[in-house]
Amino acid sequence: MNPRLHALITALPKAELHVHIEGTLEPELIFALARRNGLSLPYPDIDTLRAAYAFTDLQSFLDIYYAGAAVLRTAQDFEDMAWAYLQRAKADNVVHAEIFFDPQTHTVRGVPMATIFDGLARARRRARDELGLSTQLIMCFLRHLSEEEAFATLEDSLPHRAHFIGVGLDSGERGNPPEKFARVFARCRELGLRVVAHAGEEGPPAYIASALDLLKAERIDHGVRAIEDDALLARLAAQRTPLTVCPLSNVKLRVFDTMADHTLPRLLRAGLRATINSDDPAYFGGYINRNFIETFAALPELTCEDAITLARNSFDASFADDAQKTRWHAELDAVVARHPL
Ligand code: HPA
Ligand code: ZN
Repeated sequence: MNPRLHALITALPKAELHVHIEGTLEPELIFALARRNGLSLPYPDIDTLRAAYAFTDLQSFLDIYYAGAAVLRTAQDFEDMAWAYLQRAKADNVVHAEIFFDPQTHTVRGVPMATIFDGLARARRRARDELGLSTQLIMCFLRHLSEEEAFATLEDSLPHRAHFIGVGLDSGERGNPPEKFARVFARCRELGLRVVAHAGEEGPPAYIASALDLLKAERIDHGVRAIEDDALLARLAAQRTPLTVCPLSNVKLRVFDTMADHTLPRLLRAGLRATINSDDPAYFGGYINRNFIETFAALPELTCEDAITLARNSFDASFADDAQKTRWHAELDAVVARHPL
């Protein structure tokens, strides 16, 4: 790869808008937390666990991802996990992260909602004070569960309303369309929560349209299958709906056979507000900069200008206020000025 492009990508300030905090749990930390909590794991050692990260589709990943998350028990566990991610993100010049968490994965094991929020809040405070990194939380509903369970989770989260800005929808997409959650998302909007949803990762383009129409999603997570529907592509471009694309995830989960098959260049050329993100970096082979670098290395039609556009898009697609966005764009301008193209 062109060393100038590599240096630019590394140096660019960026926002990460699609990262599941449970997907940042590295095998080393899974084993350390299991030991601390007196839990036994179905894998004898770290290498065996890592070797199991050979996924054939979304569900084969989710089975291992939920099993890994089962070591999280105490507020300290959630703090340690999030703090490890935030330090790693800082090293990639992430200046702002809007972080997903899956409370239902934990409450089903008897972990109180307050434990999750307390641990994540402590890591977020440290990131603000020690790293100068701003963060927000987005609470995801597991779409393989029922809407009633989502409503119960929402109710349970309301004492902590000040700690999260929005809601999302994740887990197994096929057979779990957005319409299943139309009422709970309507309630979330009434409560002033921002709304995003995973759609068009494994599910059809119609799920992207229904996430927009029925859930009123402000961003689409993944959304890469929009490429199959020209009218939808035109709509996403006209509305400037952000897509939070996760290239390494797409290859690992076999949405695309290889990175060279990824449609990110076509999405950008169609005028979509695409961003690059890491999704579940501990499972998919890299954090945000590695996602940029592997994507750009495999797709030579992507240019330095595209890297800058992707970073700019990440700020514009964030839920930060306009004054903050303006400051980030100025920081980005200063970095670009130091990197002659
Ligand atoms: N898709 C759906 N659910 C998820 C993902 C994903 O990529 N990562 C964690 N939960
Ligand atoms: Zn995701």
